[in-house]
Amino acid sequence: GQPVEIDVSGIEEGQAIIVTWRGRPFFVRRLTETEIAAASSLTEGDMKDFQPVDERIGGPAEAASEQWVVCSANCTHLGCIPTTVDDAPEGWSCPCHGSVFDMTGRILRGPAPINLPLPPYVFASESTLIVG
Ligand code: FES
Repeated sequence: GQPVEIDVSGIEEGQAIIVTWRGRPFFVRRLTETEIAAASSLTEGDMKDFQPVDERIGGPAEAASEQWVVCSANCTHLGCIPTTVDDAPEGWSCPCHGSVFDMTGRILRGPAPINLPLPPYVFASESTLIVG
């Protein structure tokens, strides 16, 4: 599939959207400093598929800090689309069987076996995200 270009200039801190790439949905979420701190406070003992926060977030080269999460919007259990939760460190909750993911898409509890996968992406500028 072709890469998809997304204008992220309208996404405020604390907001998440869903974009489509290769016919599949992906979350694009802009974290607040508080949300990043909450996610960063979690440790290996808090989850079954630990990855450090800095491996889960990114951003444009021009930005002072990375605050973007770009991850699959299909639950890694059976593929439902989790709903956005604004109660950090929880970030998404799956309506099908109750899996809960953190603000960076890491599985916290429930039947989903692994974190929400990250697609290849790059910020071409501060306002332009390219997925794929
Ligand atoms: Fe998400 Fe089952 S599909 S918990």
